[in-house]
Amino acid sequence: MLQKIDIKTLVPGMYVVDSGLSWLEHPYLYSQEGEVRSLGAVREIQAGGYTEVFIDTERGDFARTRIGTGPQQPSLVELLARGPAGREAPSVPLAKELETARVVYRDCLCIAREFLGDAKACREMDLAVPVSLVDAVISSAVRNPDALLALCKLRSHDVYTFTHGVNVSVLSVAFGTSLGIGAQGLKELGLAGLFHDLGKTGVADVILNKPGRLTPGEFHQVKAHPGLGRELLEGRGLPEAVLRGVAEHHEKWGGTGYPAGLAGEDVHAWARIIGVADVFDALTSRRAYKNAMLPTRALGVLYGMRDRDYPPGLVECFIKFMGPYPVGSFVRLGSGEYAFVRTSNPGRPLFPELLLAFDAAMRPVPPRVLPAASAAAGPWAIAEALDPAAFGIDPMDYLVH
Ligand SMILES: [Fe+2]
Repeated sequence: MLQKIDIKTLVPGMYVVDSGLSWLEHPYLYSQEGEVRSLGAVREIQAGGYTEVFIDTERGDFARTRIGTGPQQPSLVELLARGPAGREAPSVPLAKELETARVVYRDCLCIAREFLGDAKACREMDLAVPVSLVDAVISSAVRNPDALLALCKLRSHDVYTFTHGVNVSVLSVAFGTSLGIGAQGLKELGLAGLFHDLGKTGVADVILNKPGRLTPGEFHQVKAHPGLGRELLEGRGLPEAVLRGVAEHHEKWGGTGYPAGLAGEDVHAWARIIGVADVFDALTSRRAYKNAMLPTRALGVLYGMRDRDYPPGLVECFIKFMGPYPVGSFVRLGSGEYAFVRTSNPGRPLFPELLLAFDAAMRPVPPRVLPAASAAAGPWAIAEALDPAAFGIDPMDYLVH
């Protein structure tokens, strides 16, 4: 199990994991994967100015010597298998909702692109359109959240800057509905999610695109983006909760975030939700320098940040909401055949409805819906999730028919 710890508590024998989190927003996270062998190595890492590190609690000498000690925490697999996932049965089937959601998602992308352009060029920004678009996002998420969630991951959008804001907005709103947040709160969440990184328009591209670790001076500039985003949106009639959602989305429950180092309940609730959605989308997005991470792995990284970065229970709720196999996941079955996840199964998240599409030799077969598997083993049980892009497959081609 992954766990994020303070670098001061790193000891020889711990196995360091590269979580995949970007150096841009986590520049003090040590991520050279492997077991730390000696006290000298620990001292060297700590002297490097790092403040945090992810370890795998089940690997390395440290894990072996600690077997049987410490409080029992559920593993990610156990957590994912627990229902309910905080969802109602959708009122509209996925294929039908996708027709509406595709238009909403495309319009959101246009608006995100326009706004980033306007902010960069210091042009006036009209908030009436994004406000009405967020209403459409909420309506779609209430009817069937899987439609917009699937679009976030399935379309091969290549411009991360535009898609990230839209995806964080969609994820936050959809997750917010499962938490029972009311209509006004969902509007605020959706807008704050859409604009959370608007302030990055004020950070030099050379810093945003830097492949290596940032210098303290460069990170100082990056740390300014939440506050800059707030400034760009101020005085336009937006609720204070939207401005705080933007300004505090990098603050952490334990007080290790930025720019203000707020902690606990001082971090606005919308900012905490946006923070979770932000990390999940960043990890599961394909970037120029990295492949998309499978959702299960990204949920594992978030699980390792629970309690330290997010309030108790929030990450667990998000994991149960997303489930191990979001709609559109491409999976290999126990039989060796390949299928897509067609409908989530909130009560039994490990056993969603599947659409069989390829035989064991990856030859297309006439698509057919499989009955939900009843056990973790068997021909129709999911053996592993795969990245469909690695096979040149777009699940949307199969899900809309
Ligand atoms: Fe950000």
